[in-house]
Parts: sequence; C-alpha cells; structure tokens
Amino acid sequence: MSRVEQQLAEQRASNQSGLPHFEAFRGHREHQTRLISASQRQASDRLCVLGAGNAYDLELEDLLARFAEVHLVDVDAQALSRARARVSEAAGARLFTHAPVDLSGMFEHLERWARLQITPDELMKAPAAGAKRIAAALPGPFDVVASTCLLTQLQLSLLRVVGDRHQLFVALREFLTLTHLRTLAALTKPGGEALLVTDLCEAAAFPPGSGSEPDLPALMKQLVAAGHVIHSSHPESIRLTLSDDPVLSRAFGPSEVSEPWLWHNGPQLRFLVYAFTLPRR
Ligand SMILES: C[S@@+](CC[C@H](N)C(=O)[O-])C[C@H]1O[C@@H](n2cnc3c(N)ncnc32)[C@H](O)[C@@H]1O
Repeated sequence: MSRVEQQLAEQRASNQSGLPHFEAFRGHREHQTRLISASQRQASDRLCVLGAGNAYDLELEDLLARFAEVHLVDVDAQALSRARARVSEAAGARLFTHAPVDLSGMFEHLERWARLQITPDELMKAPAAGAKRIAAALPGPFDVVASTCLLTQLQLSLLRVVGDRHQLFVALREFLTLTHLRTLAALTKPGGEALLVTDLCEAAAFPPGSGSEPDLPALMKQLVAAGHVIHSSHPESIRLTLSDDPVLSRAFGPSEVSEPWLWHNGPQLRFLVYAFTLPRR
C-alpha cells in the first residue's frame, strides 16, 4: 500500500472508530446544521458537504427538509453509506453520495512530488488543476457548499506522507489550503455561499484554568494570539490566502468568521471549531 493509500485507509478507520459516539456529536451537529441552514436562500437550493464521512455532524433529515438536494462527498464510501442508512427512504431520494473522491486535489501526485519529480510549472498550476479536477467529478455548482472539518485532515495526511522537513513541505501545505479554497469557489454558484468549518485546536491545547465551560470567543482570541492553533486553521492565514490569491479575491466577497464552539468527538476528545462564511460573488 502506498503512503497516500495508507493515510486514506487511516481516515476510513477513524470514521469507523467514531461510530459509537453519535450522541457525543449532538452539540456540534446542531450548531453546524444551524450554520449551514442559515446559508440557504431558497427552497430550490442544493447543498454539497465536503468531508461528510459518517455525517454525525449533520442533522440530515433537517437539511433534506430544507434543501432540494443534499450531496455528500468523501473518500470513504462506507461512511457515506452509513450516513444514508440513517435517512428515511422518502428523504433519501434527494440525498446523493459521491465516493471515493479525493478532495485534496493533489494526493494522486504527492509521492512523485515528494521524490522531487515535479517541475516549477506543474507546482504553480497545482491548485487550479486540483480544484478543476474535483469540480469536474461533482454535479455542481451548488448554492451552498460546506467543508466540515476536512482541511485539517487533508493537512494531516500531507504531513504524514511528506514530513515537515521536506524541502517542498511549506509550499505544499500552502498550496493544499489554496486548492481547498479554490475548490469551494469552483463548486459554489455565484450568489451562493461557501462555509469552511475547521477545527482550530484540541482542548488539550487550552491554557490551564480555562475551566470546563470556558468563554469560547475569549479562548479563541487567546489561542490565536499565542499561535497555539493548528497552522492551517489560523484565521489570519486563511484570510491572507483569501485576499492574496487573485482567483479567491474575485470569487468571494468579504468573509465572516463565526464565534467558536466545542465539538465533542467522543467522551475524551474535544476540539474548538469555528467557521468562515464565504459569500460567492
Ligand atoms: C474529521 S472528519 C469530519 C467528520 C465527519 N463530517 C463526521 O461527522 O463523521 C473528516 C472527513 O474527511 C474525510 N477525508 C479525509 N481525507 C480526505 C480526502 N483526501 N478526500 C476526501 N475526504 C477525505 C474523512 O474520510 C472524514 O470523513
């Protein structure tokens, strides 16, 4: 098994190991569903969720009652089948699953690139090519596109395959985020909205004394200021990518950052999560 395949197999195993924790996801599920629902404009709107996995973070029946179609995308076909199995037959007719789809847009080339078999031209074109390939694999554009705690998993796979001491690591890390944001732009209809929901850090990174019910906005500010957050989720670095990249700055109007919330991923693990709302021009 190649190193990339190994990482994708680990993603599937992680979805499998999360199965006992549906109840723990409740707060996160309700919060994220409300956020996605707030992006809807009309009853005919179509929703696409990237990195949907088990969809424990989505009230699928509620979303199917609101949106004309709901499309779930993931590399893990079995997780999406499990999500579908939770939905009634009538609503399920408007639920579409797309798997396996690699949403990195670059993993098929990563091991070759890690051997430095890449030209500067191929590297510079990678974000555009990756986003185009993903968009071509899906029946978009959609009115609302939500990326649900996928970015950090993509980055984790990159880190594990290439390693942070590789001479291309920093470039690939930035280009992976850029590819993901360009994918959101390519999949979202003009006038629609993209949501980038991302985990900022695990609760283990919270400063001592932040308590069992911390003031989350203050905590986020503190963690961001101290840089104690996952590099690719830092709101300032995402904002910079959104404003510096000519394609993204044309595609999206002024973005908004939500207040953070807690995602209980089982009895032990908690993550601080927040969302960027990206209005598509
Ligand atoms: C942290 S989970 C999100 C939680 C998930 N929405 C749920 O409730 O089960 C990240 C998801 O991203 C998917 N994923 C990871 N790497 C991927 C890739 N390269 N392409 C597509 N999906 C990927 C995983 O399979 C997993 O379902």
